[in-house]
Amino acid sequence: MMRGLSGRAGIVAGGGRGIGAATARRLAAEGAAVVIGDIVEQWAIETARVICSEGGKAVGVHLDGTSAASQAAIVGTALSHFGGLDFYHSNLAGGTEGDIDILNCPEEVLDRSFAINAKSHFLATQAALPMLIERGGGAMIYTSSGAAISGNPLQVAYPMTKNALHALVRHVARKFGKQGIRANGICPGVVMTEAVAQHLTEDYVQSMRDSLPHRRLGRPDDIAGAVAFLASDDGEWVNGQLWHVNGGSLLRD
Ligand SMILES: NC(=O)c1ccc[n+]([C@@H]2O[C@H](COP(=O)([O-])OP(=O)(O)OC[C@H]3O[C@@H](n4cnc5c(N)ncnc54)[C@H](O)[C@@H]3O)[C@@H](O)[C@H]2O)c1
Repeated sequence: MMRGLSGRAGIVAGGGRGIGAATARRLAAEGAAVVIGDIVEQWAIETARVICSEGGKAVGVHLDGTSAASQAAIVGTALSHFGGLDFYHSNLAGGTEGDIDILNCPEEVLDRSFAINAKSHFLATQAALPMLIERGGGAMIYTSSGAAISGNPLQVAYPMTKNALHALVRHVARKFGKQGIRANGICPGVVMTEAVAQHLTEDYVQSMRDSLPHRRLGRPDDIAGAVAFLASDDGEWVNGQLWHVNGGSLLRD
């Protein structure tokens, strides 16, 4: 067990499926109470149902991460259901359809990508920080991507948004560290969630696996473990970092 997760309360935004759902389950298994938010409310409710059936504490709610009112509401749910907030995993992403190279990516795709993949984290932070500070400290954990730094020739908007998120991580860490706030991001490599698998052919998956200095591609639980560590007291001296959890696909300091 990790130190200091039992009895804590947190939010997983974009926790209806994939990495977020696995993370919510892991946090609950560590004894935390979790509010799961997703634009697909049914997925959030289902993840919470699974957690409760496993003996954990969770509630699933609708969240539109791009709306300040919705972000305020999910923080309110943490307060009303679990008495407060100790961490917020801002994990949601989407809106990447039509995101190709710079000469072919429509302006609307850039705007949509920034709303979902950058502004949502800004609004999550505005909603959660006052309560974390009031508690005497807490953790913001954001899901970025290796795509932020890998130089992808086939996508322009998504990597731009993830770099914007890195700036947010560093800002929050510097500004609020003295108040007990830790802000960190995780940059996953290829994790075989439904969202990713549906776009990839078996040949492509095989070639990715072959190029990786590991025996397999990522699983949602690989990321969940890193998030749980950063949310726990074991991670209390980690602040302002972007962690690459990727089976060795990008070898970074
Ligand atoms: N899977 C990978 O290989 C991979 C690699 C690098 C980074 N990531 C990042 O990991 C995170 C999770 O990815 P995933 O593969 O689990 O994807 P996913 O699509 O399964 O999960 C994203 C969740 O966010 C929800 N969501 C989308 N827009 C929302 C909104 N406006 N408000 C609330 N919820 C919203 C979706 O409904 C979905 O449940 C994302 O930030 C993604 O960029 C994933």
